[in-house]
Amino acid sequence: MGIKFVSTGRYLPDKVLTNFDLEKMVDTSDEWIRTRTGIKERRIAPSEMATSDMVTEAARIALDRANLKPEDIDCIIVATVTPDNAYPSTACWVQKNLGLKHFPAFDIEAACSGFLYGVIVAKSLLESKAATRVLVSGAETMSRAVNWEDRETCVLFGDGAGVAILELSNDESDILSYNWAADGNLGELLIQPAGGSRLPPSHETIDKKLHSVFMQGADVFKNAVRWMADSAERALRDAGMTKDDIDLYIPHQANIRIIESTIKRVGIPKEKTVITIDRFANISAATVPIAIDCAVEEGRLKRGDIVLLNTFGGGFTWGAMVVKW
Ligand code: ACO
Repeated sequence: MGIKFVSTGRYLPDKVLTNFDLEKMVDTSDEWIRTRTGIKERRIAPSEMATSDMVTEAARIALDRANLKPEDIDCIIVATVTPDNAYPSTACWVQKNLGLKHFPAFDIEAACSGFLYGVIVAKSLLESKAATRVLVSGAETMSRAVNWEDRETCVLFGDGAGVAILELSNDESDILSYNWAADGNLGELLIQPAGGSRLPPSHETIDKKLHSVFMQGADVFKNAVRWMADSAERALRDAGMTKDDIDLYIPHQANIRIIESTIKRVGIPKEKTVITIDRFANISAATVPIAIDCAVEEGRLKRGDIVLLNTFGGGFTWGAMVVKW
């Protein structure tokens, strides 16, 4: 039996924040943001909306598309660095929102790699019969986690949620190979310093804006290209394939220049690469499932296609997966 992505869904808030809007907020320009990152605009969630609300919307779409009822799900995994609360998990709120109970629901934190990690965990749960149908989401409200006075980071991120429903299947759909990794020695290079047990909230942490993203951009860039390319090549080898066998490449959307450098290294043509960063910016764990859902909707990803998923994020964490859709 193989692992099948039965359906997908996405939710993006209506509010669009363009680079021109940002020009009025910090000392930046549309030209700088576009040429350095590829971003033109991003979505921002309204203040009353939390991460679980966006996952719930995306989940309803994915369930509808698969002709499933919420009761057909028996495990929920949400990958996020912007949970509704420290606890309960965002996945538990999604379970409540969908009117469900009495099965496992939990969050995964692997920063931008979280969705890929979640799919790998879901695969193990399905194969060990610990679950029969798993809803995996990558979802973020990054607008609540950036310092809106820091032009070096606030221009990079957006909000949204993507969802996939996975189950065991007898047809040809399957996860053909994957790898996942982390290097905690590089954790300081991309970090939200305060709010946890190391540096609990205080007047000082709030005054110093330590509850927001701090990153060494150049180091993130170099490591992202190196490890995304390395893991993509390894996943292809493990699937007994080459880059020419891929129908579609769906990378994490952190920066268009990271994507371009990675595809150049691996030798993947840009026409086979899904790019959403121009419209949605970096939504951390949500970028890959949202890009998958866009590709399905646009008819770029069809049953039987070979798709390579590839990611990199804080931790650092990274990974790649070859899927027969
Ligand atoms: N607008 C205008 N100027 C800016 C802005 C801005 N928004 N941000 C920085 N600058 C300035 C800097 O202050 C610097 O000025 P200086 O030369 O006077 O000191 C100048 O622009 C150049 O800055 P650099 O850091 O050299 O610019 P670079 O070309 O490296 O691009 C960037 C910066 C986009 C952050 C890049 O390093 C990068 O993409 N890094 C990867 C990080 C990333 O994508 N993070 C996303 C989260 S991580 C993830 O998802 C995996």
